[in-house]
Amino acid sequence: MTTSRRDFIKQSSQFVAASGLSGILTNETFANTKILNANEKLVVGLIGAKGMGNHILQKHLKQPGVECGAICDIDDSILNMRAVEVEKIQGKKPKMYKDFRKLLEDKSIDAVIIGTPDHWHCLIMVMACQAGKDVYVEKPMANSMEECNIMVKAARKYNRVVQVGQQQRSGEQWQKIMKLIKEGKIGQLRKINVWANFNYGIGQLKVPDEPVPKGVDFDMWLGPAPQRTFNKSRFHGSWRMFYDYGGGLITDWGVHLMDMALWAKDVMKAPKSVFSTGGLMSYADHAHETADTQSVVYQLDDYTINWDHTAGTQIGPYNKNYGLAFIGNDATIVANRESWEMFSETEDGKYKVPLIPPQFGKESHEEHVKNFIECIKSRKDPNCTVEIARVAAMYTHMGNISLRTNSALFWDEGNNNFKNNPEANRLLVPNYRKPWVLPTI
Ligand SMILES: NC(=O)c1ccc[n+]([C@@H]2O[C@H](COP(=O)([O-])OP(=O)(O)OC[C@H]3O[C@@H](n4cnc5c(N)ncnc54)[C@H](O)[C@@H]3O)[C@@H](O)[C@H]2O)c1
Repeated sequence: MTTSRRDFIKQSSQFVAASGLSGILTNETFANTKILNANEKLVVGLIGAKGMGNHILQKHLKQPGVECGAICDIDDSILNMRAVEVEKIQGKKPKMYKDFRKLLEDKSIDAVIIGTPDHWHCLIMVMACQAGKDVYVEKPMANSMEECNIMVKAARKYNRVVQVGQQQRSGEQWQKIMKLIKEGKIGQLRKINVWANFNYGIGQLKVPDEPVPKGVDFDMWLGPAPQRTFNKSRFHGSWRMFYDYGGGLITDWGVHLMDMALWAKDVMKAPKSVFSTGGLMSYADHAHETADTQSVVYQLDDYTINWDHTAGTQIGPYNKNYGLAFIGNDATIVANRESWEMFSETEDGKYKVPLIPPQFGKESHEEHVKNFIECIKSRKDPNCTVEIARVAAMYTHMGNISLRTNSALFWDEGNNNFKNNPEANRLLVPNYRKPWVLPTI
């Protein structure tokens, strides 16, 4: 046995003991690291099957040679419904699990899709990598900055293909826009305005706590998050408005757009400074803890990014409720998923650069899934690597940390934390509820 393998098993065993896990993460851990050849069948498992996880599974099932071997959900009604639907599509019923650890033990599963709420992404992703699975994990990569760091290490240490669900990275229109910017077509890029106004950002109407619905394993839904009684307005779908599980509009929608704002200059590091204003200013009858109103200014080396959201409204700049304006000396590109166009500055009554009239865009989930499958077979990096996803998530979490601590933040690259700000540093690392333990890699 090599030293690294022995160390890994020792670390894994400690993790197993600390988490109260059994079965996986033993000497068997590397047993499933088979490499599929180009024509071999790919068997995927889905963990978290209600919304986007299922959408991504459907895109997988449209690709040749892909089968769903298992589905896991803590809610019987969703698990049963999805198993029936998948059986209709592929003529074979997937195995059904309520505990993801059982699905990860299943050696017939090559890759997993993680479609749970954000507070579960890190643990499940790390354990999936340790179990030898490739992973498609939804965005934002995790619910804290430290979990993102851990996930980067896990993907690289266990040599897994990990695609993060920032599907715009696979979108043709975004690739074209990035090319125009990098070729200098808008001139010197100095500022990017990013905004997202959505009604869903205020959460659902407040309702009293109630008994856990039949068939739901609520303790397993909470997982590493703090213990609490069941409340429908912070469960399926609406969990994203509570910091224990998500980060509100800025991490939820924002991470897709922030990713584009960083891609424009291939930024892979923290901003020089971050400052956020905003808070809970509206819709007191709706259940939300994350900011319904928020602005954040990010100072980078040679440009600024302005984030802005007003949850509960759906009107925005350029008549788009969400999008980006890439502002250069010569032109501005305004884009969202539906459309994009380029406006030109004028000089002596003439346009500085040719206008680009409105172009249609389209959703890119399927392209992103195709890229994941190709990479599983080629063992190349996918379009949204863990490193790319970590930086985008980091910017959005920083916006929230600045708001929650009412402070301007300055990043210390060497120490991987905020300079002189213990309160902000406490928000970098989540407090896992026992028996769950934040993985160490
Ligand atoms: N890429 C995109 O465009 C996009 C769009 C929407 C959502 N998302 C992301 O997808 C993820 C899921 O969001 P959603 O809107 O589908 O949430 P959802 O609440 O509708 O679905 C989450 C599912 O996970 C299940 N679940 C929770 N804990 C589990 C566990 N421990 N084991 C197994 N199942 C568990 C829930 O029961 C539920 O069925 C989030 O990370 C979200 O940010 C991405």
